[in-house]
Amino acid sequence: MELNHCGGAATMPGDVDEGRRKFVKKVTVATLALGVGGVALQTGRFLNPNVLYEPARAFKVGELASFPIGSRIVIEGRGVEIVREREGMHAVSLVCTHLGCLVKPVENNPDVGYACPCHGSTFALKGEVLGGPAPKDLPWYEMYMDHTGAIVVDTSKVNRERTKLVV
Ligand code: FES
Repeated sequence: MELNHCGGAATMPGDVDEGRRKFVKKVTVATLALGVGGVALQTGRFLNPNVLYEPARAFKVGELASFPIGSRIVIEGRGVEIVREREGMHAVSLVCTHLGCLVKPVENNPDVGYACPCHGSTFALKGEVLGGPAPKDLPWYEMYMDHTGAIVVDTSKVNRERTKLVV
């Protein structure tokens, strides 16, 4: 055995190389493990995406008998009011076209149908802007009667012609 000047065992050049080799091997294995782990994590996220599920935009609001002629019925949680008149029925959005507050139906006022509590916009019974900062009329949504006789409102489709559902 070779001794160094302090009397301890001297390190041979081959021992240093072996130590370096082990160190480089450990770093390589750790790097590969991190890489494989990262790929596995991304694959898992791809297969299980972080998705927010929204409620269906087409939904049943009830049977025809639930909407007598002359009624105005707010569908809670949907931001829609169903209005049935002698000529037919329509679904009007209750989301203010200014900044999105829910407007309140105004009862017993032939001139004003809806009022927004946030900044004071008012709308006629058919949704036309009467006053306030709202830039557009309240839209109407498409609606139809399905094969079971239920009335369905589809908030993904605006009824631009404002045609009533004749039932
Ligand atoms: S959100 Fe309705 S008037 Fe501003």
